[in-house]
Amino acid sequence: MTVTPTPPAPAVEAIALRKDFGPIHAVDGIDMALTPGRIYGLLGPNGSGKTTLIRLLAGLASATSGKARVLGVDMPSRPNLARIGYMTQADGIYPELSVWENLSFFAALYGQTDKAEMRRTLQLVELDGRQGTPAQDLSGGMRRRLSMACALAHHPAVIFLDEPTVGVDPALRVQFWNHFHRLAADGATLVVSSHVMDEADRCDELLFIRDGHVLAQGTPAELRKRAGTENLESAFLQFAGESGGPAASGPTAKETAR
Ligand SMILES: Nc1ncnc2c1ncn2[C@@H]1O[C@H](COP(=O)(O)OP(=O)(O)O)[C@@H](O)[C@H]1O
Ligand SMILES: [Mg+2]
Repeated sequence: MTVTPTPPAPAVEAIALRKDFGPIHAVDGIDMALTPGRIYGLLGPNGSGKTTLIRLLAGLASATSGKARVLGVDMPSRPNLARIGYMTQADGIYPELSVWENLSFFAALYGQTDKAEMRRTLQLVELDGRQGTPAQDLSGGMRRRLSMACALAHHPAVIFLDEPTVGVDPALRVQFWNHFHRLAADGATLVVSSHVMDEADRCDELLFIRDGHVLAQGTPAELRKRAGTENLESAFLQFAGESGGPAASGPTAKETAR
């Protein structure tokens, strides 16, 4: 008798998930089940619903209908927040507080009090020399790095990163991605959004998002193969075209100056 191994329970699930803002269907019926220990990329142009989807999954917005579940628990759930890390697109840090005070605040909020661990998190984002600097005196890239440290300090099992590498220089991006892969290898599930395609190949799996829908999901290689294209940007446009509507609004290949 052969026994089929049971697939692991999904770390993150959406079931017919919807969020309307008046007439706008920001998330327009999304179903997904994300396997633990993988890095998922949410890719789509500005306004496609990535941030709204992440906020629903992280339990910071309530759905118009449908369900969001993290580690088997229906969101929003306050106790579940200790197992979730969320780096917002707009930095959620306090400008008057120093780097160390910001990190201490967010770590304490989620029950992390190990100072040595917090120092390691600061080293990871290369801000260990800036502990006393008020957040408002940091550069944009440094603020992104501090936001990331604040999201990761409590070792969450599920990590949502909303456009985490915008404004971060290329060398540090590489380090961030190496760290994301280490976290995934340790069992964490990461959901990373981006409106640019240049980092998509670093994800284990991609979800192409447009107009609140998932156009396609698969590994970067699978999506290229299914679309019959060399690069992911063309693959996105291919899937967007198939789904109807103007295909011209895809994520950009490279980030433009903002
Ligand atoms: N709080 C809000 N009130 C009204 N409309 C919103 C709000 N948040 C997002 N939207 C709209 O929902 C759509 C999806 O936005 P968003 O999730 O921010 O997309 P993305 O993160 O992909 O750029 C957009 O049309 C946006 O204008
Ligand atoms: Mg967004």
